[in-house]
Amino acid sequence: MNAIFFDSRLNDEARREHLYNGQLFVYSPCGSVLALCTFPKGMIEEAFSPLDPREAQYSLPVEEYAAILAKLKPTFIHHPKSKELIREILREMGCDLNRTYFDVPRMRTATHGGYLTSGIAYAFHPHRDTWYSAPACQVNWWIPVYDIESENAMAFHPRYWSQPVRNDSHIYNYDDWNRTSRQTAAQHIKADTRKQPRPQEPVELDPQIRIITKVGGLLLFSAAQLHSTVPNTSGRTRFSLDFRTVHIDDVVAKRGAPNIDSVCTGTTMRDYLRGTDLCRIPEDIVVLYDTSAQTGADLLHHPAALSDSSH
Ligand SMILES: [Fe+2]
Repeated sequence: MNAIFFDSRLNDEARREHLYNGQLFVYSPCGSVLALCTFPKGMIEEAFSPLDPREAQYSLPVEEYAAILAKLKPTFIHHPKSKELIREILREMGCDLNRTYFDVPRMRTATHGGYLTSGIAYAFHPHRDTWYSAPACQVNWWIPVYDIESENAMAFHPRYWSQPVRNDSHIYNYDDWNRTSRQTAAQHIKADTRKQPRPQEPVELDPQIRIITKVGGLLLFSAAQLHSTVPNTSGRTRFSLDFRTVHIDDVVAKRGAPNIDSVCTGTTMRDYLRGTDLCRIPEDIVVLYDTSAQTGADLLHHPAALSDSSH
């Protein structure tokens, strides 16, 4: 990776090609993204009322705080309006809705000072989403709901775009996770005992890149990027949204970022919904990615990028 594209006018195909080569894309706030921020912001403020959500952690016992999030987050994630708003973003960002599939948006909270870093507000250690069964062609879309600063942002660790990290992603199977661990998130308040893939060697966090946008700014990155939650020392809770997309042509052709170190099994491919009608990806295509029966050695391969532009 070597470039950050700001307000790029490249079309979606060229953008995906760069994302699969490790580049980042950042966009200034636009109408559709601001609309996706406004909707959950209202829900967040109602849930914490009369407190300022960014400072509510100072007034609430952590169990009560976690209980509020446990109700708030699924309500936003599964609200039909959330899907509508994502479609509008994809439209405005030049994606072909008939060929682009997205998953439901997540709401993330990063509290100040380690108040709540597990379960429902998990502070992510350095990871690639591809360690969590995401396909190599997945694009992540990340949006802050309130202004962020360097001290409560997320970070990329660019040296690891092309450098493998020893990790235990072999322990992770997405289908098992869905069956067992996902529903219990809110119960993990003091510590998180769910088995998640982690680096098995020291990760050098620097150099790191933190991209600070305004509310409604948009950040796009490949699921293969090594990234983490910045330990929040800003004094305020960060609220952000993210969702993921795949383009069906890349899914079928198995295009995407190179897989240099992920050996998890299972696939998130059944989660994505077609932009036009919310249909899921046909099962005969999904099975190309359902690696539950494969071994780690079978999984380490390098899907072809759209073209071989160098890092
Ligand atoms: Fe992630």
